Order: sequence, then C-alpha cells, then structure tokens
Amino acid sequence: MWQIFSCVPLASVVFGSFIVYDPSDVIPSSEWAADNAYVFDWHSSGVTYQDIAIKGPYYYNRQRKRISHEVLENHTNDTSVLVVTEGSTLDVEYTTIVKTGYSTSLTQSSFFGANAAVNNANGSSLYLSNVNITTHNGAANVYTHGNTSVIYAENIWAYSSGPVSHGFYASGNGTIHAKNVHHYSGGTRCSSFSGDVPNGYIHAENVIAHTDGVGSAICFLQGVCNMTNVVGYARNAPIMFSDGAMGPVTGIWKDSDVTAGLLAGILIFSDSAIADGSVTVLDNTKLTVLGNTMPALWAGNIIAVAYIKSSSINNTASGILAVANYSSVTQDFDYYAGYDDNNELSPAQLTIHVEDSDLSGSLVAFNKSLLNFNLANYSNWTGETKVGYGKSYLAVHLDNTSSWTLTGNSALQNFSNADTSLSNIISNGYNITYDTKSVANSALKTKTYKLSGGGFLRPE
Ligand SMILES: *[C@@H]1O[C@H](CO)[C@@H](O)[C@H](O)[C@H]1NC(C)=O
Ligand SMILES: *[C@@H]1O[C@H](CO)[C@@H](O)[C@H](O)[C@H]1NC(C)=O
Ligand SMILES: *[C@@H]1O[C@H](CO)[C@@H](O)[C@H](O)[C@H]1NC(C)=O
Ligand SMILES: *[C@@H]1O[C@H](CO)[C@@H](O)[C@H](O)[C@H]1NC(C)=O
Ligand SMILES: *[C@@H]1O[C@H](CO)[C@@H](O)[C@H](O)[C@H]1NC(C)=O
Ligand SMILES: *[C@@H]1O[C@H](CO)[C@@H](O)[C@H](O)[C@H]1NC(C)=O
Ligand SMILES: *[C@@H]1O[C@H](CO)[C@@H](O)[C@H](O)[C@H]1NC(C)=O
Ligand SMILES: *[C@@H]1O[C@H](CO)[C@@H](O)[C@H](O)[C@H]1NC(C)=O
Ligand SMILES: *[C@@H]1O[C@H](CO)[C@@H](O)[C@H](O)[C@H]1NC(C)=O
Ligand SMILES: *[C@@H]1O[C@H](CO)[C@@H](O)[C@H](O)[C@H]1NC(C)=O
Ligand SMILES: *[C@@H]1O[C@H](CO)[C@@H](O)[C@H](O)[C@H]1NC(C)=O
Ligand SMILES: *[C@@H]1O[C@H](CO)[C@@H](O)[C@H](O)[C@H]1NC(C)=O
Repeated sequence: MWQIFSCVPLASVVFGSFIVYDPSDVIPSSEWAADNAYVFDWHSSGVTYQDIAIKGPYYYNRQRKRISHEVLENHTNDTSVLVVTEGSTLDVEYTTIVKTGYSTSLTQSSFFGANAAVNNANGSSLYLSNVNITTHNGAANVYTHGNTSVIYAENIWAYSSGPVSHGFYASGNGTIHAKNVHHYSGGTRCSSFSGDVPNGYIHAENVIAHTDGVGSAICFLQGVCNMTNVVGYARNAPIMFSDGAMGPVTGIWKDSDVTAGLLAGILIFSDSAIADGSVTVLDNTKLTVLGNTMPALWAGNIIAVAYIKSSSINNTASGILAVANYSSVTQDFDYYAGYDDNNELSPAQLTIHVEDSDLSGSLVAFNKSLLNFNLANYSNWTGETKVGYGKSYLAVHLDNTSSWTLTGNSALQNFSNADTSLSNIISNGYNITYDTKSVANSALKTKTYKLSGGGFLRPE
C-alpha cells in the first residue's frame, strides 16, 4: 500500500490523494524480512553460458496443453514449477502457482531463468489468464527466454520475496505482453518487469506495481519497456533503469503515474562502454521523484534521447530536473559510480525534447557531458542550467510558443529562441550567457539583449 497525490496528471484543479493497494497488503513484506534483506554477491555470480538444466515438475517439451483450476507448487532449490520449452504451447487459467527454494547462481537465474516459478523457453508460447504466482527465497515469477518465445498474460497477481525475483522477466530476445497486473516484490534487484541479455521485449498495460528493494525498478530496460497505464512506486530505485549497453533500447511510459525513491526518477546508462540508441518517452505521465538529491532524469556513459510529451515532472524535493554525467551505476544499484568502478566511462550526451509539458528544476552537466534541452508546443520550464564540475555543454532551444522562467544565472554553449522578441523568457533578474565561439549562437551576433524581469542575455 502506498499513497499518491493527484492521480490526474495534467491540469487538475482538484488535488486529492489516493491509497493504492498492492499484493504486499495481502502478504506483508515483514513476514519475509530475511528473504528481502538478502543481497546476492554479483561479483561471484557464475558463468555466463547456461550450465544448469531448467527443470520442474510440470514440464512441457514440444507439447500443446491446457491447465485450468489447478494449484501447482515446488519447493526445491534451482527448480521451476512450470517449464514450457521447445516450441510448446501452453494455456494456464484460474491457477495458483507457489514456489519456494533458492537460486544458487545469479547468472543462471538472470540469463536463463533457472529457479523462476514459470519458465517459457526455446520458441514456446505461454498464455496465462487469471493466474496467481507467489515466490519466496529469490525466484522470478514469470520468465521467458529465446528469440521467438512469447508470453501473453492477463489478470495476474504476482508476489515475490528474496533477491533477483523480478515479476515478468524476458531475456535472450524473449517477449512478454502483460495486462491487468498487480505486482509486489520485496527483495533487492527485483523489478516488476525486466529485460536481460541481449534483450527482453516487454509490453505491459493496466499495472499496479510496487517494489521495495534496492535496484528494483518498475521496469529494467534492455530491449523494450512499453508501459501503458501503470501506477507504480519503486521505493528504493528509479522507476526505470535503462541499460543501453547491448544495443538500442526503447522505454515508453504512457498514461502513467509513477514514483521513484532512489538515485533518480529514470536512470539511463550503459553498464559497459558508452553506446548510442537509447530512447525514453514519457507521454501523459506524471513522474514523482522523492529524495533530496534525486534528479528526475539521469544519464551517464550513454548517448540518449528523451521525449517528454504532455507530462508533468514534479520533483520539488531536489530541484533537479536532469543530470548528464561522466558516470554509471554498478550492480549494487545504489550510487553513481566513477572511473574506479567502470574504466570504460565516457561523458553522457542527453537530448531532451519537451512538448506540451510543464517542467521545473535545474539541468546539470558534469565533466564534459552534454545536455541539450528543447522546448516546443506550449511547454513551460522553470529552472536554470548548472555545471557540476569540469567543462560541460549545456544547450537550450525554445520555440515561440514555449517559455523559460529563470531561477538562476545560466551559462549556455548553445542557445536559440524562435521568439526573437525574447518575451518568452522571464528572467527574474538572472542572466543567460552564451558562448560566442559556438556557431549555433551566430544569430545572436555577440550582442547583449535585455530580458523581461531585469536580466540580460549576453555573450560570455
Ligand atoms: C520439485 O520438482 C522436482 C523436479 O521436478 C522434484 O524432483 C521434487 O520432488 C519437487 N519437490 C517438491 C518439494 O515439490
Ligand atoms: C537450498 O539453498 C539454501 C540456501 O543456499 C541452502 O541453505 C540449502 O541447504 C539448499 N538446499 C539443498 C537441499 O541443497
Ligand atoms: C533451450 O535450448 C538450449 C539449446 O538447445 C538448451 O541448452 C536449453 O537447455 C533449452 N532451455 C530449456 C528451458 O529447455
Ligand atoms: C494469491 O496467492 C497467495 C498465496 O498463495 C494468497 O495469499 C493471495 O491471497 C492470492 N491472491 C489472490 C488475489 O487471490
Ligand atoms: C537468436 O537468434 C540469433 C540470430 O539468429 C542467434 O545467434 C541466437 O543464438 C538466438 N538466441 C536464442 C536465445 O535463441
Ligand atoms: C537476438 O538478439 C541478438 C543480439 O541483439 C541479435 O543479434 C539477434 O539477431 C536477435 N535475434 C532475433 C531473432 O531477434
Ligand atoms: C505498446 O503497447 C501497446 C499495448 O499496450 C501497443 O498498442 C503499442 O503498439 C505498443 N507500442 C510499441 C512501440 O510497441
Ligand atoms: C507538485 O508538488 C507540489 C508540492 O509537493 C504540489 O503542491 C503540487 O500539487 C504538485 N503538482 C502536481 C501537478 O502534482
Ligand atoms: C557524477 O559522477 C561522479 C562519478 O564520476 C559521482 O561521484 C557523482 O556522485 C555524480 N553526481 C551526480 C549528480 O550524478
Ligand atoms: C504554458 O504556459 C502558457 C501560458 O501561461 C499556457 O497557456 C500553457 O497552457 C502552459 N503549458 C502547459 C503545458 O501547461
Ligand atoms: C572527469 O573526466 C576525466 C576524463 O575525461 C576523468 O579522468 C576524471 O576522473 C573525471 N572526473 C570525475 C570527478 O569523475
Ligand atoms: C546580471 O547581469 C547584470 C549585468 O552584467 C549584473 O548587473 C547582474 O548582477 C547580473 N545578475 C545576477 C543575478 O548575477
């Protein structure tokens, strides 16, 4: 259970508060405190090829079956309850699945789904409808692996305790379509939805998701997180970790109301070398960011684009809207790591396109990172730009329907404004300085301009 404020993302004059109920109201996480406190040591996590057999008492190999109104269980380490493999097709409806038993290899669980309650692999299709899945000791609820493996799930209640127990987990290019989901996980590194090496393709709609553990996002992105109508609360994680290390990734949040409690609202990175092709979309979505130092968007060691459309970001606690940094995160998922942790680090390049949105907070770039901010279609931004440390590249572009209300002096490498009267800038006495050496600023002719509210736009 948790509380959110004003469920209506935009233009709501009635600010109410809502209590959201999730599976932890039925099975209190305090009953599984030891499971949830367990942190898997990722430094010794095992080999990255499959060295464990995926097994379970309900095992379907090249079969077509239907399971209805059953209770399926298993309580053994490294064992699934239901395994669907080698091109099988299985329908499961009105069924309860319960699993306990530990994972002995983090990598085997993450990359191949060892110990997941439900494992669908090698070109199989699994249809879950009205299914209740509970796991303890560290086991994913539902896992799919393989290029043509797919799961369609609807009306799902999923609960887990213990580490690395994601709700819906896709890897090896596996695909999940889920709708009407209630999910809770109490452990560390247990996202409600998760994609893993090389990619997971996740499409989820109508979701209530609550995670409590460190590293447990609402969606961990490698591949696609396509999230619609999600009400989510990640108490000790961003709502999304977007890891672009393996190739292009797309994270979409539409019609959602999501709250993050650690690191950032959305954390965009590469866990190895810098990579290009990271896309994030917030569409008609409210992102709430708790914590005094958390930015709404954070990018490190990645070349990323974010589109913010008809959305509201309300992060008054930190006053920071976006950060681009020479940094990454480790699999501890609880701090911004430097070169000591990842010697392939590069500065981030984050471009944000804003449309029909009202945003507030500062933009901060560190150590040669680049942060490019474009406001269009009646967007309003209240904020300033800042350099964290070192030389950094900050750019702001405004169309003539958008506005910028300054909260501090801002130094820009690039600045452009389609409103040549500059009346869309409310300076509050603060100044914007621009880099005369940047060709993007040539239209400003190295001149100084008066801004409304007493400040100036002038060359630096
Ligand atoms: C779990 O499944 C394994 C493998 O299929 C089986 O050998 C074992 O008896 C089952 N154990 C329990 C406790 O369900
Ligand atoms: C299952 O794993 C737990 C935790 O690692 C361990 O304590 C237990 O001995 C294992 N059980 C068996 C039968 O190996
Ligand atoms: C999928 O196929 C691979 C390669 O043949 C095999 O190693 C693996 O055990 C299979 N997985 C399952 C769950 O059957
Ligand atoms: C799902 O199963 C768990 C454990 O078996 C139970 O506590 C819970 O009430 C069930 N949820 C629903 C919605 O039936
Ligand atoms: C997926 O397809 C690619 C390309 O054909 C292949 O290299 C890879 O082994 C396949 N992966 C799985 C998990 O089946
Ligand atoms: C699976 O992913 C790998 C790595 O991204 C890619 O090379 C391969 O073509 C993919 N296969 C399919 C069938 O999508
Ligand atoms: C995202 O999922 C919705 C259904 O939930 C679907 O209509 C839409 O096409 C998907 N978008 C992408 C880009 O896959
Ligand atoms: C943003 O946060 C402030 C302070 O917490 C609150 O008064 C306001 O209603 C919020 N706005 C939206 C759109 O949620
Ligand atoms: C920026 O990155 C450095 C490591 O390179 C890290 O120590 C610092 O905490 C990061 N700050 C933010 C706000 O990202
Ligand atoms: C931005 O401010 C203008 C002028 O006050 C207003 O008309 C417009 O609706 C605002 N845009 C948003 C997305 O709230
Ligand atoms: C800043 O970037 C340089 C590489 O350009 C790196 O050597 C240095 O450690 C970074 N500083 C911090 C504080 O991250
Ligand atoms: C803005 O620039 C003017 C002119 O250089 C200066 O007098 C003023 O103090 C500056 N304002 C701030 C807030 O630094």
